[in-house]
Amino acid sequence: MNIKELNATAKAMVDGHKGLLAADESTGTCKKRLDSVGVEATETNRRDYRELLFSAKGLGQYISGVILYDETLRQKAKDGTPMGALLKRAGVLPGIKLDAGAKPLAGSPDETVTEGLDGLAQRVEEYVGMGARFAKWRAVIKIGAGIPTPYCLETNAHALARYARICQEGGLVPIVEPEVLMDGDHGIERCDAVTTDTLRIVFDALYRQGVAFEGIILKPNMVISAKACPKQASVDEVADRTIACFRRMVPAAVPGIMFLSGGQSEVDATRHLNAMNAKFPNAPWKLSFSYGRALQDSALKTWRGQAANVAQAQSVLLLRARMNSEACHGAYRGEAA
Ligand code: 13P
Repeated sequence: MNIKELNATAKAMVDGHKGLLAADESTGTCKKRLDSVGVEATETNRRDYRELLFSAKGLGQYISGVILYDETLRQKAKDGTPMGALLKRAGVLPGIKLDAGAKPLAGSPDETVTEGLDGLAQRVEEYVGMGARFAKWRAVIKIGAGIPTPYCLETNAHALARYARICQEGGLVPIVEPEVLMDGDHGIERCDAVTTDTLRIVFDALYRQGVAFEGIILKPNMVISAKACPKQASVDEVADRTIACFRRMVPAAVPGIMFLSGGQSEVDATRHLNAMNAKFPNAPWKLSFSYGRALQDSALKTWRGQAANVAQAQSVLLLRARMNSEACHGAYRGEAA
């Protein structure tokens, strides 16, 4: 593996107050999103939607890379330009979702393990040939009565580490994404404890499997109250606890931490990221975003499948991208700014 090159790519992903646009929804998840605005989930509509996002003028000012689903990387824009070339033109790196989704964990039916390791080295080789520079694998950790179990954490961490090592050997920067879900009604303390445990086990597995920390990006959840928790932690508390947790568990050699939004509102996701960067400007890692819903929600609702709404939807996307870019250096001053 070429650690220098991996490190340079990882640094480029978090450089210049930029973040990632996660547009790698699987066909099933994409259908859910399109259904929500009354658009039929055809291959053409998926293409049109992604083309809208990627061709927003100026996207590369705020976005360093886009995570793609396999179908999208193989598609062409309406004028015949391959989607990867569209991104390249915008100065944006293409990345690829490599996992095959979270499947029921044998023997622990309320938990999942992420699949997709079979034939992974060959797939990495193919995607590198298609221009991909980084990859993503998402492990899902659910909080509930008696879960997560150590079995679930160990199994997911082992798969994440295998994926990461295979990516690095093949020349892709692995985004390591252990997502502790915010579903439920638990308080922020529980999220803190589970996130700490998860990261401890994930970094142990990465180390034991010889993954170079200099050549990964971590994509974690924030330490946050569950959605249905009656007591929602303040923005300051989310920032303080998240950074304290990472200081304990994330090696300083990791170049960047790029958060998922995980179901937070667009504005909450921006405010939380901003608070972390404003309060901890000397954190050992760059703190940025890799948002899906928190970048796309308003743009999707604005578009609603209508060609006449494309320009407006693009400006809505750019606004969110700019707000989050400001949050990458603690310079977000609210929505009106
Ligand atoms: P959200 O920001 O919508 O959580 O999506 C990010 C992502 O890529 C999840 O894997």
